[in-house]
Amino acid sequence: MRSQRSIQGADREILKVTILLIVIAISIDSCSALIFAESKPLLSGGENLYIHYCSPCHGVKGDGNGFNAKNLDPRPAVHTDANFMSRRTDKDLYDALATGGKGIGKSTLMPPWGDTFDKAQIKSLVKYLRELCRCQGE
Ligand code: HEC
Repeated sequence: MRSQRSIQGADREILKVTILLIVIAISIDSCSALIFAESKPLLSGGENLYIHYCSPCHGVKGDGNGFNAKNLDPRPAVHTDANFMSRRTDKDLYDALATGGKGIGKSTLMPPWGDTFDKAQIKSLVKYLRELCRCQGE
């Protein structure tokens, strides 16, 4: 009888410890989700727009390899190419974005964005393009 009772007692202990571990695991999990969310830097305006609107052609990293790129001829510009990008001033890039390929005498496969974005958004995109190429316009 005595030994049976102590087994039951041991069972209860195991149950308590198990519940405690589950509670600890759940709180660590939600804590880490919180910490991760807080430490993740917010995307800049330009980066956000770029990922949504430009990456299908130009690639998430600006390497010209978006999922749509293989269908395009000419291929989308490579925004990480400092040599290519430094030959364009910020105004050139602004005009290319606002008026599209057609506006700058290039392929109409590059869409115009002037009716989609306001000036501040286009400027934030130009700024982000400079981050991608790590270059300035000459
Ligand atoms: C539907 C595909 C497509 C999308 C979406 C697109 N582009 Fe393009 N883009 C192109 C193509 C194709 C070219 C190359 C045009 C050429 O060389 O004639 C190009 C060229 C460019 C150029 C180089 C222009 C120059 O001076 O030669 C820039 C800058 C550019 N795109 C920026 C952007 C930005 C920023 C976005 C998002 C707001 C964007 N593109 C969205 C297809 C696209």
